[in-house]
Amino acid sequence: MKKIAILLSGRGSNFIKIYENIRSGVITNAEISIVISNKPDAPGLIYAKNVGLNAIFVNPKDFGSRIEYDLHVISILNEIGIDLVCLAGYMRIITKDFVDAFPHKIINIHPSLLPSFPGLNSQRQALDYGVKFTGCTVHFVDEQVDHGAIILQEVVPVLDEDTEETLSNRILEKEHIIYSRAINLIVNDKICLKGRRVYILN
Ligand code: GRF
Repeated sequence: MKKIAILLSGRGSNFIKIYENIRSGVITNAEISIVISNKPDAPGLIYAKNVGLNAIFVNPKDFGSRIEYDLHVISILNEIGIDLVCLAGYMRIITKDFVDAFPHKIINIHPSLLPSFPGLNSQRQALDYGVKFTGCTVHFVDEQVDHGAIILQEVVPVLDEDTEETLSNRILEKEHIIYSRAINLIVNDKICLKGRRVYILN
């Protein structure tokens, strides 16, 4: 059974979907061993506590730097023996120390077809640019923001009547599907990484 850590800062809908999919058997061979938030009142953290998961707030104010914060998080994750770290709306840029501590074991979901529209407000960026298709990406995390090797992507058409909200909602539906799919592939050793290319094994 692979041990997953979830890091989040907000709503946590991706985390909740992962949790539900583990319970219902859509994701096999995995358990959520810890949920960590940098925000005490993150709805995702509160949900995790309510369903009885090991869920903790790590206060950035208790640490002098981002590195010190991440070293503390790393020590928590190492103590548990975490196999996979899933960033799920985690609004902190993680340090190189963090990436190096878990090589190819940290993944993220991003609401665009990377490398288009990295960073914040990707759905707004897509609308402003005028693309006809956008989507979402699950990728490994490296030292650069929204940059690591791409595991899965899903396309979402942009409709003439779309607002940032309607587009975000339709992308989110796809996020909920491909994040769990990617996790299931990884925890069942169905992913092979060569350079930047991710191959899915049968
Ligand atoms: C999602 O859009 C995800 O792609 C991005 O942050 C948002 C988190 O949403 N990284 P939620 O907290 O999982 O509902």
